[in-house]
Amino acid sequence: MSESILLLHPGEMGASIGAALRASGHAVRWVSESRSDETRRRAAAADLASIETLESALTCVENVISVCPPGAAVDVARSVHDSGFRGVYVDANAVSPATSRRIADIVGDGFVDGGIIGPPARRPGATRLYLSGDLAYQVASWFEGTLVDARTVDCSASALKMCYAAYTKGSSALVLAIRALATSQGVEDALLSEWNISQPGLVARSDAAARGTSPKAWRFEGEMREIAATFSEAGLPSGFHEAASDIYRGMRELKSVKDADIERVVAILLASGK
Ligand SMILES: NC(=O)c1ccc[n+]([C@@H]2O[C@H](COP(=O)([O-])OP(=O)(O)OC[C@H]3O[C@@H](n4cnc5c(N)ncnc54)[C@H](OP(=O)(O)O)[C@@H]3O)[C@@H](O)[C@H]2O)c1
Repeated sequence: MSESILLLHPGEMGASIGAALRASGHAVRWVSESRSDETRRRAAAADLASIETLESALTCVENVISVCPPGAAVDVARSVHDSGFRGVYVDANAVSPATSRRIADIVGDGFVDGGIIGPPARRPGATRLYLSGDLAYQVASWFEGTLVDARTVDCSASALKMCYAAYTKGSSALVLAIRALATSQGVEDALLSEWNISQPGLVARSDAAARGTSPKAWRFEGEMREIAATFSEAGLPSGFHEAASDIYRGMRELKSVKDADIERVVAILLASGK
């Protein structure tokens, strides 16, 4: 059955989710007000129907999927609820279980908790959308036969995403911080030589972390805070990911910079600490 879905907003990941839904015959809309040219370009490429304001868009959809920077997830939910929407609301963002509960309280019975793992959905088998809650099966069915592998879980989809990203993005921040520390201590060459002996692959991993995280570091800052809050709520130390948030905040100026090399990232991190 074809569903009417509002996607907020068509970023790199959001546009690929929208394209998957379009490919399986659903009517997918997006809201152009306040969005950048980049978002407009992605929405057009994904064949999503543009509506100028949120209020107008919500009059013609029964479902909303929020795929936005984690730091904006609560505001997006509130703006949708305040506009009178009472349908199915999927929060697919990297937020803590506590933030997820806050969003559930705002949007009410239609809430579905989601967490995305993997890159934007452009090839089969790479991108999973975990879903939990009473309406999770219904939402998963929208994605049947698409590039998005939607899976229902009987645990918290948000908590699963937090645990997963705690390692992937947390360890990238750690290895970048170590490269900056080694430079500041004048031991970079010696450290890389030792890594090449005893930690094969780690030099390449840290170089790749610089390139891979730089354009998205501005968004990871908030995601690391959500992970820190998740540790804290569980009674575990939150300091790893508070520090990771600081590392990514230091890299904010690299927003949208592709292929920033490790030397540039190290210089920025060392300057941001002064
Ligand atoms: N990209 C990935 O590989 C990946 C992987 C797993 C999970 N995710 C999750 O997917 C979500 C979004 O990621 P993405 O890759 O689509 O991000 P993105 O490419 O940075 O796009 C973010 C989208 O949200 C909009 N936006 C920016 N600031 C906003 C604000 N303050 N309020 C509302 N909307 C705002 C942007 O609009 P403008 O164009 O106007 O800035 C853009 O359309 C995150 O929760 C992330 O954790 C992403």
